[in-house]
Amino acid sequence: MSDRDDSKLDRFKLETSFGDGTVTHITYKTDMAARERRARVQTTWTDKKNLGSGGFGVVILQQADGGELRAVKKIYTGAANIDFTREITVMTKVAHRQDLFVKFLGWYTNSDFVFIAMEYIEHGDLTHYLKNSGPCSANIAQGITRQLLEGLVTLHELDIAHRDIKPQNVLIASPEPIWVKIADFGVSKRTKGTMLHTRLGSQGYVAPELMGLLSRRYMDDNYSQAVDMWALGCVVHEILTGEIPFREVEYEPDGTTEFDFGSEVGGMEPRTDIGTLKSFCDGKTDLPTDLLRRSLVSELAIAFVKELLVADPDSRAAAKKALASVWIVSEEEPRTNISIEDTRINKIKQTFGANTSPTSHGVNIRQPVKPLVVVPTGQKETGSSVTDAM
Ligand SMILES: Nc1ncnc2c1ncn2[C@@H]1O[C@H](COP(=O)(O)OP(=O)(O)OP(=O)(O)O)[C@@H](O)[C@H]1O
Ligand SMILES: [Mg+2]
Repeated sequence: MSDRDDSKLDRFKLETSFGDGTVTHITYKTDMAARERRARVQTTWTDKKNLGSGGFGVVILQQADGGELRAVKKIYTGAANIDFTREITVMTKVAHRQDLFVKFLGWYTNSDFVFIAMEYIEHGDLTHYLKNSGPCSANIAQGITRQLLEGLVTLHELDIAHRDIKPQNVLIASPEPIWVKIADFGVSKRTKGTMLHTRLGSQGYVAPELMGLLSRRYMDDNYSQAVDMWALGCVVHEILTGEIPFREVEYEPDGTTEFDFGSEVGGMEPRTDIGTLKSFCDGKTDLPTDLLRRSLVSELAIAFVKELLVADPDSRAAAKKALASVWIVSEEEPRTNISIEDTRINKIKQTFGANTSPTSHGVNIRQPVKPLVVVPTGQKETGSSVTDAM
C-alpha cells in the first residue's frame, strides 16, 4: 500500500458546500428495510465553540440541523510543509478500531483549510481528566495504560508510529468505567521509509534519542516506535503521580523549588529537566522513583514504568511486550486508606456527573501530590461514520 493511498482518502472525502459559519454535506444512504437504493441526504452543520487548539489549527464543536454533535479539526494548509494527507491516511487505516481511536467521520477541504470530522468526545482529554480528578487510582491507571498499549500495538503493527503520545492527545470516551481513545495523528508517520529527524513529540514526553542525549545517534527508522513507548512511560508516570518524570522544577521567588502542577492546562506544557535526564541517559543516576514511591505506587507499577523509561531505545519494551507485563495483567493490591480515594471519586462525580461511580475495589491509594516540593534525587455524541453511508 502506498504512503498516501489516495483511493482510500477519496472514499472518506465529504461532498461539501460552505455557508456563513456552516457547512453542508451531501451523503447517500441505502435503506435496505425500506428497499431504498440510494437516498440523497443533506446535512448542515453549524460551528458551536472551540474545543482545543494545537500546533497547526483548532478543533471545533459542530452541531447538525438534527441536533447531532461532532468535532472538526481545522488545519491551515497555506503553511509550508503541511502534509495533512498523512493524518487523514492514518485515520482511515485505524478506522476499524473505533474502540481504540477517535472515530473518523470523513474530511473536506477548501482553498485554505482541510477539515477532519470526528466523533465528539464530550469528556475531553486526559489532561482535563487529571486536572479534575487528580492522579488516578491504580486500577484506573492500569486500565488507561492497557488501552493505550492496545492502541499502540495496533498502530505499530501497521508500521505507524504516533509520535505525539501525551495526555492532551488521549480522549476520555467514558470516565467510568474508564475508556480512553488515542487521537491526533498530526505528526504520525509511517515507520518505514521515514527519518527520525523530522518533528518530534511534545516537551516533557520526548524520548532522549530525539533530544540528542544519547551518545549513539539513532537515525534508523526502526526507533520511532520506541519513541512512543518512552512517551507512554511519561504518561503512565503522570497518571500515577500527577507529574511527568524528569520534570523541570520551578523556582519560587523565596528560593524554594516547587512543581508547577497543572500549568499545561493553560496551554503550557511541562518542561523536561534536561540535566537530570542527561545524567540518567549517561548511566550516572537511576531513574528517579521517589515521586512514584511517595505516591504509594506499587512495586509492580514502578517496575512497569522502568521497562518503558529506558534510555536505550533498543532495550525499551515494545508495545506487545509491555502489554504482557506483570503489572498490566495482574490485580492491584487492595487499597489501604479510603478517605483519599473517596475525595477523588467525589471530584470525578462533580466533574463528570453524579451518575458516575468509580469502582472502589482493588484500588491502591496514594497521598495527594499537589502541591509538591521536590528536589530530584540522583542528581466530547457520536455522528454517523461515512462508512455507514457506503
Ligand atoms: N474528537 C474530539 N472531541 C472532543 N475534544 C477533542 C476532540 N479532538 C480534539 N479535541 C480537543 O482538542 C485538542 C486539540 O486536538 P488535536 O490534538 O487533535 O489537535 P492539535 O494538537 O492541534 O494537533 P497537532 O498536534 O496536529 O497540531 C485536544 O487536546 C482535545 O482537548
Ligand atoms: Mg494534540
